[in-house]
Amino acid sequence: MKIKKGIPLIDQHDKNGFYGGKFGGNFIAETLKKPIEDLTKLFEKHREDKNFIKERDNLYKNYVGQPTRLIKLQNLTDYLGGAQIYAKMVSDANGGAHKIYNAITHAMLCKIAKKKYICTDTGAGYNGKMFSMVAKKFGLGCKVFMGTRDIKRQKPNCDAIIKNGAEIVPVDSGSKTLVDAVSECIRYWVANCDKVHMGIGSLVGPNIFVKICGYSTAQISRELKIQLEDEFGEIPNKLKLINCVGGGSSAYGFWSEFIDYSKKQIELIGVEAGGPKNSKLHAAPLSKNSKIGVLHGAAAYCVQNSDGQINETQSISSGLDYPSVSPIHCFLKDTGRAKYTYATDEEALDAFKLVTELEEISPSLEPSHSFAETKKIAPKLDSSNIIVVNSCGDSLKDKDIIKKRLGSYLR
Ligand SMILES: Cc1ncc(COP(=O)(O)O)c(C=O)c1O
Repeated sequence: MKIKKGIPLIDQHDKNGFYGGKFGGNFIAETLKKPIEDLTKLFEKHREDKNFIKERDNLYKNYVGQPTRLIKLQNLTDYLGGAQIYAKMVSDANGGAHKIYNAITHAMLCKIAKKKYICTDTGAGYNGKMFSMVAKKFGLGCKVFMGTRDIKRQKPNCDAIIKNGAEIVPVDSGSKTLVDAVSECIRYWVANCDKVHMGIGSLVGPNIFVKICGYSTAQISRELKIQLEDEFGEIPNKLKLINCVGGGSSAYGFWSEFIDYSKKQIELIGVEAGGPKNSKLHAAPLSKNSKIGVLHGAAAYCVQNSDGQINETQSISSGLDYPSVSPIHCFLKDTGRAKYTYATDEEALDAFKLVTELEEISPSLEPSHSFAETKKIAPKLDSSNIIVVNSCGDSLKDKDIIKKRLGSYLR
């Protein structure tokens, strides 16, 4: 299993959609074959089209507000006393997170396909919020499938979805979280795909959804590359790019331009949700060595029991609370190009507290997992090492959870 240089990872699958011969694919019902084929043709026709890219880049610039900042966290650097720490402030993006990039591509494809409705899933509510934003902008009807447990814990994003005129479809089955929302959304699409376009909110699902999502979030690393060259005059020699991993869309977007560099020069570190310290439940299929299973149309490492049934997951962070992960990250893990670890709920909260006390940023609980890893490794490194954390979401959506767990929420 090898990564080829000079080819985006999202294009390194075989004709059946498998990466490394075993991750991904299209495990779909017969009824979905045609809509998936149509979507694949549509995307492949437009992804390199000059006008499509021009419109996309214009939206990224004038609607998302690209580039998001790269800032040095000097106080955190001084406090931890080792590596120099930077944050890529992807939370600056319109709507507050990276999910806007994928939502834009899907809305553009939906328009070209002359469909008037768009549907999606959401966990943290950010993906739902971004789809509701682009639906409003493009004049599309929008349904957002969301677990009832997440509806309760991510109220600010739910309020935004409703304000934008989209409908939240509550999903009360299973664990009432992201995994159930994705299943329900796909079920709805199967029955309505002639009129409705579906976008999956992460780098997961049948292969075409992995590709569209990765194509979109790759914007993050295109910006970062330029910003690093501006800051250091070159790409640093000892660079560590730390990103939380739920499905894996922000991590792929943050890393895609850097995958071809040697891992000695650029380390890619993914941080999964380790769940509560004293619980056996987690959402860390890569770092806790889960077996390969099939979920939402793709083969990937999956949190499962010995019979292959998907296990319940637990995390303080709705965005990371997903039992499987992108086939792309499974490929990156097995080739050894990226390494994956986890942070517990408590470690993420401690890191949130530290970062917000020292710096004028307020990462959501997802990137707080990345700061937890930073807290662990930065003091062991010297100042010739550069750590960049993707601060891919804003904590406002987590204010109730943070207040409950830490006693107060200050921004
Ligand atoms: C702010 C934020 N970060 C990270 C994630 C995890 O998703 P992904 O791994 O696809 O980036 C989410 C998902 O909702 C999110 O909202």
